[in-house]
Amino acid sequence: MPFLIKNEKKIKSSEITPEKTYLNRRTLIKSLGILSAYTPVSSVLAENDKINQASLTFEKNSKFSTTETVNSFEEITTYNNFYEFGVGKSDPYRYSRNFKPKPWTVSVTGEAENTGTFAYEDIVASNQLEERIYRLRCVEAWSMVVPWVGISLMDFIKKLKPNSKAKYVVFESVFRPNEMPGQKRRILDWPYVEGLTIDEAMHPLAFLAVGLYGRELTNQNGAPLRLVVPWKYGFKSIKSIVNISFEEQQPKTTWNLAAPNEYGFFANVNPEVNHPRWSQARERRIGSGLFGAKQPTLMFNGYADEVSGLYRNLDLRKNF
Ligand code: MTE
Repeated sequence: MPFLIKNEKKIKSSEITPEKTYLNRRTLIKSLGILSAYTPVSSVLAENDKINQASLTFEKNSKFSTTETVNSFEEITTYNNFYEFGVGKSDPYRYSRNFKPKPWTVSVTGEAENTGTFAYEDIVASNQLEERIYRLRCVEAWSMVVPWVGISLMDFIKKLKPNSKAKYVVFESVFRPNEMPGQKRRILDWPYVEGLTIDEAMHPLAFLAVGLYGRELTNQNGAPLRLVVPWKYGFKSIKSIVNISFEEQQPKTTWNLAAPNEYGFFANVNPEVNHPRWSQARERRIGSGLFGAKQPTLMFNGYADEVSGLYRNLDLRKNF
């Protein structure tokens, strides 16, 4: 594996900000006796799950982190979209127990010099792990704030040395119907596929997550390795990646194939372009409770200053 190793100022996950400082708003809601609209499956079980995940060593990247209140581990791991395990929000939590994220390899194919198959452990050991607190804005008009741990996608891609024909980066999720019950039905065209332009993929905000809350990813959040593109709707952030391919042509992506008039290739968070069946102007923060006020959705999910230059020549109403 041709990756560089640099490990200077690392911190242990035990040194990160205590979780309780993240949870003030949530605790207040609970103490007032107001039930959350997204009542978790079981907070005790979720806490056990957290302890069972291996801890990671990483640096905090405050430059790329929001200071908004972080959602709890329980909220992040029990309210999910991962259709490979079913379409219900708690299905990924309930039905991903038999999924085996180890051993794991990622194959790199297409227009790059360093193609081949890389072990998950080598990817983690050869790259700088960082914590980045990003908002995740789902196309279904809910959002959460997640303390991801992972690798800069730009740094990862640089080591793979894509050539001048590489205009797009295509990501594919694993296909294992025996471990992923949702794949026994043709809910989507499996395997799940997503893509970015090479410029989007090389943007410093694009991230390959391997953990959250200082520990390895849970199965329901896309173990062992998933994409996080904070300025795009959540469906771009493909989970459990097994293949990364550098391509000349724009790929056909899963949601775009499933409903082309609803899910465009670009999928940038844009409060001015409504989903055909609902508004995108506002969003509900998970954990804000049944009566929690919706908040305005921000252009590019609040990352406009950083990323709008990527789309200077694009009509974002047509290229939604
Ligand atoms: N990746 C795969 N393989 N399958 C999926 O169904 N759902 C997407 C995205 N990645 C999905 C996926 C959607 S719609 C969202 S909103 C995010 O994952 C949710 O990520 P989270 O469950 O970690 O919050």
